[in-house]
Amino acid sequence: MRELILEPAPVSDALKAALTSAGLLIDDLEGSDRTYFALVDSDGGVVGYSGVENCESSSVLLRSVVVIPEFRSQGYGRRLVELTIAKLPLAADVYLATTSAATFFEPFGFMVVDRDQAPKAILSTRQLSGLCPASATIMRLNRPPT
Ligand SMILES: CC(C)(COP(=O)(O)OP(=O)(O)OC[C@H]1O[C@@H](n2cnc3c(N)ncnc32)[C@H](O)[C@@H]1OP(=O)(O)O)[C@@H](O)C(=O)NCCC(=O)NCCS
Repeated sequence: MRELILEPAPVSDALKAALTSAGLLIDDLEGSDRTYFALVDSDGGVVGYSGVENCESSSVLLRSVVVIPEFRSQGYGRRLVELTIAKLPLAADVYLATTSAATFFEPFGFMVVDRDQAPKAILSTRQLSGLCPASATIMRLNRPPT
């Protein structure tokens, strides 16, 4: 695998194109509570993107996780999520919503939760309150005790 770093990324046309081509939402990318990252190889090429949306009560929504198609199935998605989680405060209560990749997130410690178990702060994000289908799977990160 190439040497990779995770660096902050602006909301760019490239980010939007990557998300759109993967069928992910771009209608709610803007906002001061949202931060995006690019997974970049040693040549400066972008391998994938991720995002975090900070909500009330220390809740965080992991979102916009995408690996550029030509780089998929080489372990980059796993690295992208590991490095993104490592950026989050240990006290953060991390959630995500996915319509198709729940089993991809399980090895990191994400477990499916019922909608009524998710905090209001997460349910009221635009992803959960409107843009994502009600059938989307909601997952919560269970971190090992430190
Ligand atoms: C999901 C995604 C990020 C995975 O990236 P990737 O670089 O292909 O993933 P990796 O190569 O690191 O795969 C790690 C493991 O996850 C599995 N996996 C990959 N994509 C998966 C998916 N969509 N669903 C379930 N498992 C998946 C792989 O088979 C691999 O398993 P293994 O270790 O047992 O072989 C990528 O397929 C993608 O961008 N998909 C479109 C966007 C998306 O669905 N994002 C997630 C929802 S926000």
